[in-house]
Amino acid sequence: MAKDDDKEQTLGEVLRQQGVSRRGFLKFCATTASLMALPPSMVPAIAKALDKALRPSVIYLSFQECTGCAESLTRSHSPTLESLMFNAISLDYQETLQAAAGTAAEAALHDAMKKFHGKYLLLVDGSIPVKDDGVYSTIAGKTNLQIMKEAAEGAAAVVAVGTCSSFGGIPKANPNPTGAVSVGDLMKSGQIATKPLINVSGCPPIPVVITGVLAHYLTFGEVPALDVHGRPKVFFGETIHDRCYRRPFYDQGKFAKTFDDEGARSGWCLYELGCKGPTTYNACATTKWNGGVSFPVESGHGCLGCSEPDFWDKGSFYAPLSTGHWGTAEGIAAAAAAGAAIGIGAAAMSRRHQDTISKEE
Ligand code: SF4
Ligand code: SF4
Ligand code: F3S
Repeated sequence: MAKDDDKEQTLGEVLRQQGVSRRGFLKFCATTASLMALPPSMVPAIAKALDKALRPSVIYLSFQECTGCAESLTRSHSPTLESLMFNAISLDYQETLQAAAGTAAEAALHDAMKKFHGKYLLLVDGSIPVKDDGVYSTIAGKTNLQIMKEAAEGAAAVVAVGTCSSFGGIPKANPNPTGAVSVGDLMKSGQIATKPLINVSGCPPIPVVITGVLAHYLTFGEVPALDVHGRPKVFFGETIHDRCYRRPFYDQGKFAKTFDDEGARSGWCLYELGCKGPTTYNACATTKWNGGVSFPVESGHGCLGCSEPDFWDKGSFYAPLSTGHWGTAEGIAAAAAAGAAIGIGAAAMSRRHQDTISKEE
């Protein structure tokens, strides 16, 4: 956690104090620009903005979750979590990473909420259970809903980290025994204050996408352009299928039929093995995971659609998009609507797939 006495310093001042060279700072700015898909010509403007930016206080709350999202953040490689935590932001509360526990942790949360009221950035992972007055998840005697209500009140903006807080995720999956809802659901129903909200979905979300969103907020002091599901377009503007390296095989109608057949070994398209890449908006195919090593499709498994609303209930992970839920009128309409926003219709994609199969036969 950062020291109290450097809270009001600018990022530039803190970096100079820590001996970060101008060259190192510009490298950080270049990384930030590339994370935000901005051209290199923007680096001087980013450097100027970051140099003067005050380090925002960040409060990170976790509700009905599996810790996968926080675990993912600790795998951020560019910028590293350390550089982000100690240089760019002031992480004032994070249950998994902080040393404090019990009463001391609660005091740290309330101190930060009071001191930076109206200014802090609130990060949330996990869904919020509201059934039976929210009794299914409590911390220090308070329900998640009560905590969320208090924390949202003083937040400048909220970042929903992961599919659980963005859309309800696995806890909200049928039959949703705890009445789990997303942060956006709580804002829409008026149960918490409405604040600028950025959904960074994914189960878990890509680490560099989380830090990229924070970098954008730091640089421009505002929420980035969002898609219809409240996700930053810069990271969620294209489908996995749009950027997939197996796409040429899809276009040629070459599909693996099992996970260990000749087609799979030759890197053919995983559509028939249930890949949901054509209807899934996320940056996995470009940023990849684990420091850019790979992503699910590259590791031989189709995309599960983990960054989309209701991905768990849509399921049918090993059935092609043209069958099961996705083959129904409702599923195809939903997929086509999602695709139409960017220019790809899943219905058209499905027809094309059928065409290629017919040609093969
Ligand atoms: Fe875990 Fe996935 Fe929910 Fe994150 S979005 S808390 S990884 S279940
Ligand atoms: Fe890649 Fe899946 Fe699209 Fe095939 S269907 S090209 S494996 S994203
Ligand atoms: Fe999730 Fe699909 Fe990426 S399953 S991790 S959005 S490739």
